Amino acid sequence: MQYGHFDAQAREYIITRPDTPAPWANYLGSPTYGAIISNNAGGYSFVKSGAAGRLIRYRFNEQDRPGRYIYLRDDESGDYWSASWQPVGKDLDEYRSTCRHGTGYTIMEAEYTGLRSEASYYVPMNMVHEVWRLKLTNTGEAARKISVFGFVEFTCESFYEQDQVNLQYTQFITRTYFKDQFILQTINENCLNAVNESRVETRFFALAGAPVTSYCGDRAAFLGGYRDYGNPVSVEKGRLDGTLNYNLNPCGALHTALTFKPGESVSMAFLLGPKREADAKALIAHYEDSGLPNREISDLKTYWHGKLANLKVETPDENFNHMVNTWNAYQCFITFNWSRAASLVYCGQRNGYGYRDTVQDIQGIIHLDPEMALEKLKFMISGQVSHGGALPLVKYDHNPGHEDKPEDASYRTGTGHPSYRADDALWLFPTVWKYISETGNTALLDEEIPYADTGVDTVYQHLNKAIDFSLNHLGIHGLPAGLHADWNDCLRLGTNGVSVFVAFQLYYAFEIMIRCAQHKGDAATETRMIELKKKFGAIIEERCWNTDRFVRGITEHDQVVGKPDDPEASLWLNPQSWSIISGFASQDRGKAIMDLVYQQLNTKYGARLMAPAYRRHAFDGALALLFNPSTKENGGIFLQTQGWLILAEALLGRGGRAFEYYLESCPAAQNPIAQTRLLEPYVYSQFTESVDSPFEGRSHVHWLTGTASTVMVGCVEGILGLRPDINGLRLSPTVPSSWKNFTMEKTFRGKKMRIQVQNSQGRESGCRKLTVNGVEMADSYIPATVLKADNEVILEM
Ligand code: GLC
Repeated sequence: MQYGHFDAQAREYIITRPDTPAPWANYLGSPTYGAIISNNAGGYSFVKSGAAGRLIRYRFNEQDRPGRYIYLRDDESGDYWSASWQPVGKDLDEYRSTCRHGTGYTIMEAEYTGLRSEASYYVPMNMVHEVWRLKLTNTGEAARKISVFGFVEFTCESFYEQDQVNLQYTQFITRTYFKDQFILQTINENCLNAVNESRVETRFFALAGAPVTSYCGDRAAFLGGYRDYGNPVSVEKGRLDGTLNYNLNPCGALHTALTFKPGESVSMAFLLGPKREADAKALIAHYEDSGLPNREISDLKTYWHGKLANLKVETPDENFNHMVNTWNAYQCFITFNWSRAASLVYCGQRNGYGYRDTVQDIQGIIHLDPEMALEKLKFMISGQVSHGGALPLVKYDHNPGHEDKPEDASYRTGTGHPSYRADDALWLFPTVWKYISETGNTALLDEEIPYADTGVDTVYQHLNKAIDFSLNHLGIHGLPAGLHADWNDCLRLGTNGVSVFVAFQLYYAFEIMIRCAQHKGDAATETRMIELKKKFGAIIEERCWNTDRFVRGITEHDQVVGKPDDPEASLWLNPQSWSIISGFASQDRGKAIMDLVYQQLNTKYGARLMAPAYRRHAFDGALALLFNPSTKENGGIFLQTQGWLILAEALLGRGGRAFEYYLESCPAAQNPIAQTRLLEPYVYSQFTESVDSPFEGRSHVHWLTGTASTVMVGCVEGILGLRPDINGLRLSPTVPSSWKNFTMEKTFRGKKMRIQVQNSQGRESGCRKLTVNGVEMADSYIPATVLKADNEVILEM
C-alpha cells in the first residue's frame, strides 16, 4: 500500500494518506534549535539537546502525541477539526489532506467542509524559534465564521527525564502569563541567580497577524477532565477560559475568531521558542509582515538545495535518483547534525557524539559539503586520547586537552561508557582519507589538533597514534583485540579475544597511512607501514580464513566464531565485505566470498548481518542473543552493513549485484509496500526484521542511523564510481547492464563537472574511453590539473 510519492523537482515527499503505518517525520532547525514533526504534527522541540533542552512534550512509544496542534472550528455548526489530520482525526472520506515534507520545512494542506488550510512548520535559518504559518481560505459559496486555536504543551522543565518522572518537583516550578498576543511561561521564576544550578527560564507561544480572542495557559483547563487532544473541551466550546497555569501542567493555547467571505484568505503565524518577554514582543512584531514566512521558507530551500546540488544524478532508476539527490543526502546531514540524539525513538538522553557513529556520519556529507565535514572531523580528532584510543562518546561540551577518559570513574559515570572500543579511532582513516581526496587539502595532515586529555599533535601523528593503540591492544595470535566492542555493539571479545573486522580495519589503516606517508615523503613510516601490512596480512591469512569464508572473531579461549560447521552464526557479513573494502581479498577470492554471502545471507530485503541467528549456541560475549532472532545484531538486516555490501560488490566490478542489493533495502523502492516496512519511504532505518520474524520486512529506528552514510558512500563511490584521491578523480561506474546512459553533475574542488556515462554495450563496469573537454585521458583517471571551471566529461563504459 502506498501513502505518498516523491516530488523530485521540489525535493519533497508528499503524503496523501495521513493514516501512515507509523508517524512519518521530518527535521526542522539546526543544532541550536531542533524540532521534529510527524505528518500528523506530533513531535517536539528542543534547544541544543533533546534531553536537557526540551521545550515541548512528546510521549514516546504512544500515539504520536502531543504536538504542534492547530484546531479549526466552524462557529455556526460547532463542528471542529485540525489542520493536521490528527489529533481530531476526521473521517478521511470528508477530510482531504497532504503533508509535504521538504528540506527543513513541513507543509500540511487540508480541505474540509469548504475550508482550505495550509499550515507550514519551520525554524528560520539560524534562529532559536519556530513558526507555524497558517493560511486559511474559504473555498465555499457562503460566508463562514471560523475559530482557530493554536496549542502547545510545554514541558515543566527543560530536562526531559525530570519533566516525565520527577513530578513532585517539576509540577511546582512553572507558571504561565498572558501578554496581549502571547502566553509566557516561566520556570523557577524567582531564581534570578542560580539556585541549585537552576535559574529562571522563559518560553513563549504567540499569535502574530490576527487578534487573540481568548487564551489559556493550563493544560487541564484546555483539555478538560477525561478528554484527550482529539476532543479538548475548550475547542468544543469555542472559547478558551483564560485559566493560567500556577503549578501542575502548563500549555500555550491561543484562539482567534474570524469571519470569511467566500473566496477570502487569511494568514497568521503561531510562534514558539525560548525567549524573554521583551524579545518575544520584538519577534512577534516582525511576523506582522505576512510575507516573512514565505521568504524564510525560501531561504531554507536555498540553503539546503544549494548543498544538495553539489551532486546531481540522472540515472534510469528514479528511486536511486530520489535518494542520492535528495533524501539519502538530506538524511546524511541530519545524522551529521543530530548524531543519535533526538528522534521519535531516541529521546535525547545521549549527551554527546558517539565516536564511531559520528566519524562515519561525516563520510556521508564530504562529497556535498567538505568544509562542514572538516569542522566536525577536527572536533572528533580532538576526541582522540593521547595514547591513540578514542573516547567512546565525545560530549557536546567537549573541552579538548582537559577531558577525562574511560580510565577515569568520572567519565564512566558521566557518559555510561565503561571502556574503549576496538574500532573507534580506526574510523578516522577512511574519513580523513575521503576528506583529503575530495578536497586535495593535504595540509590537514600537518594541522595541529589537541588530544582529548593532554597534548597536541598533527593529524598525521594522530593517525599514527591510532595505529599504535591497536598495536598495543592485541589479543591471541597477535590479532587486534575485540575489547568492549568493535563496530558491533553486541560482540564482547575482550582484551584477549580478537576481532576480524578490526583486523581488516587496521589493514586498511596501514594502506591509508602508506599513501599519506608517501605524500609527505616520510620514508621511515612508509616502510614501517608496508611491513606491518605484510605481517598482519599473513596472520589474517593464517588465522581468519576458514574453508570458504573469513571468520568473525576468536574468543580468548581460542573458540573461532563464524566457521562453516558452527550450528549458529556460521557466516557473518562484515568480515566478508571488509576483506574487499580493506583491499585484502583478491578479486577472485572476493567474488567467491560474495557469492557465498549472496547464497546464505541475502533475503528479499537485504543481506542478514549473520546467520543462523543465535538461540542456543552463543559464546559468552555474544550479546546479540538478547534480541529475538532476525532482529538487530541477532541476524537482522542491519542496514548500515548494506552500504558496505554495495561498495564491496562495486569494487569487484559487479554492478548488477551491487544494484540488486541497493534496491532490496532502498526506502524509496519500498514505497509501494509501506505497510510492511512501516517507516518513512524517504528515510533509511537502522534495521529490518528478517526471515525468522513473523514480520519480515518491518523496519525500525528511523532517521538517525549509520545506514545513511554507508549507503551514500556505497552509491557515490561504489555504484556511481566517483573515487577521488589526492591528485584527481577516478571514474569507475559500476552499474546494472541495463543502464545504457546516465549523467552526473558534480562539484569537485570548486569546479563543475558534467559527466555523461555511455554504456551502449551494456557493461557493468570498466572504461573504454574517457574524455574531458574533448581531450582523451590515458585511462579512467582525471588528474585534477586538467579541470577548468566548467567541464564536459564523457565516459564510455
Ligand atoms: C548502532 C550503533 C552503532 C553500532 C551499530 C552496530 O547503530 O549506533 O554504533 O556500530 O549499532 O552494533
